Amino acid sequence: MSIIIITGGSRGIGASAAKQCAAKGMGIILTYNSHPAGAESVVRQINAVGGKAVALALDVTKVRSFAAFRDDVAKALKSTWGKDHIDGLVNNAGYGNFNAIEAVSEAEFDGLLNVHLKGPFFLTQALLPLMAAGGHIINMTSATTRVATPGAAPYAAFKGGLEVLTRYMAKEFGPRKIRANAISPGAIRTDMTSKAFDQSPEFVTLLAGQTALGKIGEADDVGRVIASLLSEDNGWVNAQTIEVGGGYNI
Ligand SMILES: NC(=O)c1ccc[n+]([C@@H]2O[C@H](COP(=O)([O-])OP(=O)(O)OC[C@H]3O[C@@H](n4cnc5c(N)ncnc54)[C@H](OP(=O)(O)O)[C@@H]3O)[C@@H](O)[C@H]2O)c1
Repeated sequence: MSIIIITGGSRGIGASAAKQCAAKGMGIILTYNSHPAGAESVVRQINAVGGKAVALALDVTKVRSFAAFRDDVAKALKSTWGKDHIDGLVNNAGYGNFNAIEAVSEAEFDGLLNVHLKGPFFLTQALLPLMAAGGHIINMTSATTRVATPGAAPYAAFKGGLEVLTRYMAKEFGPRKIRANAISPGAIRTDMTSKAFDQSPEFVTLLAGQTALGKIGEADDVGRVIASLLSEDNGWVNAQTIEVGGGYNI
């Protein structure tokens, strides 16, 4: 059984990915930051249909906690699956914070940098000793790296950095047969976006109109791509950024 770590699995795209991966027979270690109840609910839903999942606490901005997190992962692997290795890591945790370049504070900038680029970099580094040969890393980026979206400059710049980092991971980890790909969602209705979408239905209409398939996406639209990319069917897909946006702004 493949074991996959999904950061930010308590809600949204990460929670969907956890359920879709479990449905394909993968064992799941999902992480939460501020919503343990959400994570426990996802674990219960997976276990209720015969899957196996555990939830661990992790703040991806706290690099100094990563060594202890690796120890937690090693213990969970052993006690839940009798295994020593993970087979996949999905660097998904994150948030959006939209502001014009002229108004962005240093604290906003650093927060986004830490969660979207520094965290995935050092978390991957920390977990590499546990990664099996033939494993897979997926980094969640954003279509804002391709389509300049006013207010998203720091977020998009760090997601763009994560896309570059993905190719470097593929290059450096290739000798261990570890793949690395980025998944770049378009606009998806989750907690991250629902406030803006609910406040401004015309924004949703605009985004839908800019999308070839004529609507915004749902978490499951991305979660099922994550599960598929992790499967051996996609074993020759490497070092790519795969946009999952229904044909956004083409
Ligand atoms: N929704 C979109 O339209 C969209 C589009 C493109 C890319 N993305 C990307 O997709 C990923 C998931 O977004 P989403 O829409 O699913 O968001 P979401 O529903 O708001 O969920 C965010 C998840 O990230 C976790 N998280 C946030 N800050 C964290 C931190 N410092 N440390 C650890 N975990 C943290 C949350 O954990 P807790 O709930 O436990 O705090 C939660 O599980 C993000 O990287 C986002 O940038 C989303």
